[in-house]
Amino acid sequence: MAGVGRVLEGRVAIVTGAARGVGAGIARAFAKEGAHVAVVDLDTEGAERVVTELSSYGAAASYACDIRDSAQVDACVAAVVERFGSVDVLVNNAIDATSGRFEDTTDDELDRVLDTGPKATLYFMRACFPHLRDSAGGGRVINLRSGSEPQGMAGFGAYVASKAAVGGLTRVAAREWGRHGITVNNLAPFVLSDGARSYFDERPEELEKIVLKSLSVPRLGDAESDVGRAAVYLAGPDSSYVTGVTLSVDGGGSFFS
Ligand SMILES: NC(=O)c1ccc[n+]([C@@H]2O[C@H](COP(=O)([O-])OP(=O)(O)OC[C@H]3O[C@@H](n4cnc5c(N)ncnc54)[C@H](O)[C@@H]3O)[C@@H](O)[C@H]2O)c1
Repeated sequence: MAGVGRVLEGRVAIVTGAARGVGAGIARAFAKEGAHVAVVDLDTEGAERVVTELSSYGAAASYACDIRDSAQVDACVAAVVERFGSVDVLVNNAIDATSGRFEDTTDDELDRVLDTGPKATLYFMRACFPHLRDSAGGGRVINLRSGSEPQGMAGFGAYVASKAAVGGLTRVAAREWGRHGITVNNLAPFVLSDGARSYFDERPEELEKIVLKSLSVPRLGDAESDVGRAAVYLAGPDSSYVTGVTLSVDGGGSFFS
């Protein structure tokens, strides 16, 4: 029965930051729908663990890559194409997030979040473009954005700037690449990932307030069954007329306009 009716059967997907959290959830959802998944991360052990898990659904491989370095990104994309023959779906998910008071933001924090945000997103989109354009089922780009952005969430100045820039890249590429059969969209999730937990562990009352008071659907999201399934839609055949939008998968925590 393997493979019957799976919407991403044989499609090749790159998911950055897929060693854990949201990226791992998206990678799992893709693999269960038949995609060949390239798990890209700096954390090689975590990436290998995810690949082992995905291998029961189909072909998967891990790629050690520091997404801040465009030469490593180019080499990573070339290695994926060498191994799987194409890139049909690109998910720019990895981030080295920071938080803190606006006036205390350091140069290093700003560099980290911009280097792993819009700069890495552009590096991957640029390197993948010729392959996405040649994709038989149409190229798909999914960039991770954040509900903290429209809210201007206090304590996240550099991070919000990074995500706003990612949103800008998405809109421009959506305009330019539609004629090449490529859609470009954003996902804005809310999941208690390792990254999010490291922030909320020190502020449990803030998490409770967000879940109980700010979410219309008062529960935490799941990286695979909530965010991953939304990513399957944006990566698959049913979304070919959807581009340039932000799909919030955050229990109604934020509304983008
Ligand atoms: N978790 C949430 O609720 C939430 C909310 C809004 C937006 N997002 C967005 O979703 C995405 C994933 O979030 P998460 O919470 O799963 O993050 P996370 O911190 O748990 O995981 C990030 C992954 O990126 C990898 N990474 C970091 N720097 C890297 C680099 N230089 N090169 C390669 N890999 C690198 C890390 O090793 C890690 O595996 C991010 O873009 C984040 O901004 C998450």
